[in-house]
Amino acid sequence: MDKPFSLLILVFLVLSPNLLFLLQRPVTALPLSTNSRWIVDESGRRVKLACVNWASHLEPMVAEGLNKQPLDVISKQIISMGFNCVRLTWPLFMLTNHSLASVTVRQSFQSLGLLESIAGIQVNNPSLLDLTLIQAYQVVVSNLADNNVMVILDNHISKPGWCCSNFDDNGFFGDRYFNPDLWLQGLRAIATMFNGTANVVALSLRNELRGSKQNATAWYRYMQKGAETVHAANPNVLVILSGLNYDKDFTFLLKQPVNLTFTGKLVFEVHWYSFSDGEAWKNGNSNQVCGSVVNNLMRKAGFLLDQGWPLFVSEFGLDQRGTNVNDNRFLNCFFGVSAELDWDWALWTLAGSYYLREGVMGMEETYGLLNYGWSDIRNSSFLQRLSSLQTPFQGPEISNVRPHKIIVHPSTGLCVQRNSLGEPLSLGSCEESEAWSYTPQKTIVVKGTYLCLQADGWGKSAKLGIFCNDGNSKWEAISDSKMHLSSNLRNGSTVCLDIDSNNAVVTNPCKCLSRDHMCDPGGQWFKIVNSTRTMTSTTTTRLSLPNLYVKD
Ligand SMILES: *[C@@H]1O[C@H](CO)[C@@H](O)[C@H](O)[C@H]1NC(C)=O
Ligand SMILES: *[C@@H]1O[C@H](CO)[C@@H](O)[C@H](O)[C@H]1NC(C)=O
Ligand SMILES: *[C@@H]1O[C@H](CO)[C@@H](O)[C@H](O)[C@H]1NC(C)=O
Ligand SMILES: *[C@@H]1O[C@H](CO)[C@@H](O)[C@H](O)[C@H]1NC(C)=O
Ligand SMILES: *[C@@H]1O[C@H](CO)[C@@H](O)[C@H](O)[C@H]1NC(C)=O
Repeated sequence: MDKPFSLLILVFLVLSPNLLFLLQRPVTALPLSTNSRWIVDESGRRVKLACVNWASHLEPMVAEGLNKQPLDVISKQIISMGFNCVRLTWPLFMLTNHSLASVTVRQSFQSLGLLESIAGIQVNNPSLLDLTLIQAYQVVVSNLADNNVMVILDNHISKPGWCCSNFDDNGFFGDRYFNPDLWLQGLRAIATMFNGTANVVALSLRNELRGSKQNATAWYRYMQKGAETVHAANPNVLVILSGLNYDKDFTFLLKQPVNLTFTGKLVFEVHWYSFSDGEAWKNGNSNQVCGSVVNNLMRKAGFLLDQGWPLFVSEFGLDQRGTNVNDNRFLNCFFGVSAELDWDWALWTLAGSYYLREGVMGMEETYGLLNYGWSDIRNSSFLQRLSSLQTPFQGPEISNVRPHKIIVHPSTGLCVQRNSLGEPLSLGSCEESEAWSYTPQKTIVVKGTYLCLQADGWGKSAKLGIFCNDGNSKWEAISDSKMHLSSNLRNGSTVCLDIDSNNAVVTNPCKCLSRDHMCDPGGQWFKIVNSTRTMTSTTTTRLSLPNLYVKD
């Protein structure tokens, strides 16, 4: 590809509850490459992958939802929800099984008895029905390109169907449906097919390696071959490698790094769900579970960021009805960590329903962003919360703003903001947050001023003051989760930063520091995060505080 492809992405960003701004994202010059742990574009500017998974690997081998809505409507919905990318799954056999090469979309559904799906596609996407499966897949990629959506092609499984279990014979090299040579052949085919397709920015080589055969020796042998194969056929794409044990474990890389002939294109992917840890969240104390799960994650995969590799959380998600306690508690922790590490990610999932999943026709997907009919957003408050993670907090060339701290509140996806003088602090959009600094003396200062955050009493608003030496101006991240910001009142008692029902920032007794597992501290969790995002326009506030400002 010689001409850089320009992505001009328009996104609606909710900057405050009653203010909607149209913000034009900068042009992304493709292809992408890596600069240490960051993914960057041709101009060296960080591109944060904020993706949603779109399944196309189940038995019909057709991107889900095309029976419910026109393709172009779905693509536009993806962009309007603030995503810049899709992780589009594919089954290996779609590329390698010659008897499938001429199968049309209609025939595929017919052979599965999915006549209602055919009728739905006839209504919503009639031009796709008599294309071959591969042509239909190409049309989806191309429509995403028309809508400025980047695509990651993910080899999700070999034999089309719902993924993944230890016993599906698709888990590791040498399994019944996972012949390494056939896999390399399929990778070469798809990489070649999309060589020159600018919006295809990455290939993830295989989803969730697993099962009794898995071992590091075979991982190096085949994953390195896979990476070289893809790169030879399509030198523009990022090559994404998953770990062992359902994409949770890269500890083997501590002993032996990946050895490839090319540089600047390698990314690792990790998966993280509540159920990655069984029912630990529901049955345990969230502070302790968050602390120990994150330690584990950093030990098994997160260390790659410190080693200078991008780590793409290519699957996480939750039941969007908000009724799953295990998921809800996990998500608060996920949000804090994701703001801090500012990694690239892909939500599982877009689909509101499937043509056919695990034998069930038209199965609803409660982890889906879209509703059953793919016509609307299932839970807009979740999406609004997610929007705080869709743009980068930091990374090369994202702004000319100096590094500062912002204070993120994971359970709302909002940030601690200052209002006009005399008004209490409150939560507001992290898109343009207040800039803070966190000093070695543990004070939290409005950057460029003498104003520090102070605790005033139980249930009282946290305030800004200028006498910053007392205990009530020192803040410490406490508990196993390290997500409670605690301070001491003048009377010696300990309080934690909290919010009240109006999203005003207050201090209250710290919650759930004991082992009580019934207790949910999520509302009291805050994370002090590095940022070079643009800041709240300080002109108005500066004018009201003319004497308190010092030079940065
Ligand atoms: C991939 O496309 C580029 C042009 O975009 C071309 O130079 C190269 O030969 C192609 N590689 C293969 C393996 O087809
Ligand atoms: C190819 O696909 C057909 C139809 O799904 C299937 O019957 C056949 O077993 C597949 N062949 C191989 C080698 O996987
Ligand atoms: C590692 O995996 C390969 C591929 O399945 C297999 O042939 C080999 O026996 C495995 N080695 C161990 C030690 O399990
Ligand atoms: C890396 O692979 C090359 C062959 O591609 C080999 O010559 C070299 O010894 C390998 N390096 C290490 C450290 O294994
Ligand atoms: C959306 O999710 C929130 C929790 O994340 C939950 O409280 C709410 O009921 C959900 N709304 C819908 C419409 O499911």
